[in-house]
Amino acid sequence: MRDQAERLREIIDNLKKNQKMRSSLKEAEMSMAKTAAEDKSARIITITSGKGGVGKSNIAVNMSIALSNMGFKVALIDGDLGLANVDVLLGISPEYSMADILHCNKSIMEALCEGPGGIKFLSGGSGIEELVKLNKEQLEKFIGNIGILDSYFDIIVVDTGAGISDNVLSFVMASDEVIIVTTPDPTAIMDAYALIKVISSRSKDKDIKVIVNRAENVGEANNVLEKLVMVSDKFLKMKVSPLGFVLYDESVIKAVKSQIPFLTSNPNSVASKNIRKIADKLINSGAYAEGEIKNSGIRDFINRVYSFLKN
Ligand SMILES: Nc1ncnc2c1ncn2[C@@H]1O[C@H](COP(=O)(O)OP(=O)(O)O)[C@@H](O)[C@H]1O
Ligand SMILES: [Mg+2]
Repeated sequence: MRDQAERLREIIDNLKKNQKMRSSLKEAEMSMAKTAAEDKSARIITITSGKGGVGKSNIAVNMSIALSNMGFKVALIDGDLGLANVDVLLGISPEYSMADILHCNKSIMEALCEGPGGIKFLSGGSGIEELVKLNKEQLEKFIGNIGILDSYFDIIVVDTGAGISDNVLSFVMASDEVIIVTTPDPTAIMDAYALIKVISSRSKDKDIKVIVNRAENVGEANNVLEKLVMVSDKFLKMKVSPLGFVLYDESVIKAVKSQIPFLTSNPNSVASKNIRKIADKLINSGAYAEGEIKNSGIRDFINRVYSFLKN
């Protein structure tokens, strides 16, 4: 009996200690978030498309791993809400999602889970729609919490759903840098163009980049890239930069089935080489590399998502 009572006391003491540790950890995180906002902002890259099923999630996952392999600290956020696409691609079932930060007082560092290749991953759950239901105090807490990402990460990749819905547009309009994925399929190209048109009607200075996925060969990929850049310039007066391409590759399909990203399972595949080239270009050329564009950080990003959804 005495033994049991003693053990119980020990357990309670440990629980108390843990709780204390947790709350001081949270305090430390919040104060780090405050200083981080002044110090450094993560680069936020939103990946989207006009048409669905063009390969956004595969590109988001593998590009994140490629950037992590280059030495950057990368967080991947699933913004394709409710579908848990990225969970499936990574073959993981995260315990927490964005919804737990909003409603269950989870800190962002607890909600993030380990992904492959050293990336961290935040599952979508159903999160962003619920932002609009928060009162000002709750929202500030959420923004403060998510602002922690700025101090921990160099790059935050947001994978979105397809199309011109409010949700997708709010992510797109909130981020400084947008990657639009298309395939050489004419309907996908038309939908990509329609999306660029909507973005251009709202803002002319978004940094839009294009990736062609599932191209048969380099010639076809470059042809699509050139066309999109040309029509956007001519008819929308919108500067769109070609970021690269991923050729059609069976290893992508195999990787999806085995739930292991192709960059990890098959690093020498054509798709892996294409992705590494894209990651390299993202880092080493363009407006970001030349310092023409400054990151506005994850707090500004969430603030802008919020004000977009509120209006
Ligand atoms: N480069 C590629 N080569 C071959 N198949 C591909 C390629 N990219 C994507 N796919 C196929 O397309 C499917 C949809 O990709 P996914 O990344 O889920 O698209 P999205 O996120 O745009 O809906 C994948 O499951 C895979 O079978
Ligand atoms: Mg997807």
